[in-house]
Amino acid sequence: MKTIPFGFDLNGPDFIPSEYDNHIQRHLTAMKGQYLDQTAYQQRLAQGDDLLYEVYELRRPTVPGELLHGISIVHPGLVGDEYHMTKGHFHEVLETGEIYYCLKGHGFMVMETPEGEWAVEPLYPGRVLCVLPRWAHRSVNASLDEDLITFFVYPGDAGHDYGTIEQKGFRKLVVQHDGQPAIVDNPRWAAAEAG
Ligand code: PA5
Ligand code: NI
Repeated sequence: MKTIPFGFDLNGPDFIPSEYDNHIQRHLTAMKGQYLDQTAYQQRLAQGDDLLYEVYELRRPTVPGELLHGISIVHPGLVGDEYHMTKGHFHEVLETGEIYYCLKGHGFMVMETPEGEWAVEPLYPGRVLCVLPRWAHRSVNASLDEDLITFFVYPGDAGHDYGTIEQKGFRKLVVQHDGQPAIVDNPRWAAAEAG
């Protein structure tokens, strides 16, 4: 891990950083239970465990003063009607935010708080997105032919809480409807709220 100030290059068209020491690759199997249409998920899986998204990072210590940062690349595609997306998470330290800067592609950041608020914000090249403290976040690639690439920065001690989202998903889903992205209620949430 670097102990003196450093820089790295981040250029198109691929935006793979010139230096990284952590490359996370999430395949279809890592998204088990996340997509609503389980039949479509199983059908996709039968064709192969495709790579859905990747993160490139230079590791930093997970302490409050550090700024963890990296590049997230969500590859295009659908599982049923749902666009490819990240797992999504709350930060373990709930009161920590995150900044995203979109470098390439078109998509959305789907967000919600434990109190039931939700927000869906567009991502497109040049767009900065502020995920406020308390807001869970998931990036969704709404293109079927281009990667969604973002640069992110968040506090070193934030941590990731995936469990809450794994149980019910987000309140809102981004689906393809008549060839366009549409934001719809997640039926799993409605079912959970009905008791
Ligand atoms: O901390 C973040 O929000 C990002 O670094 C994400 O971890 C990244 O986009 C991958 O998403 P997830 O961690 O939900 O799999
Ligand atoms: Ni985060």
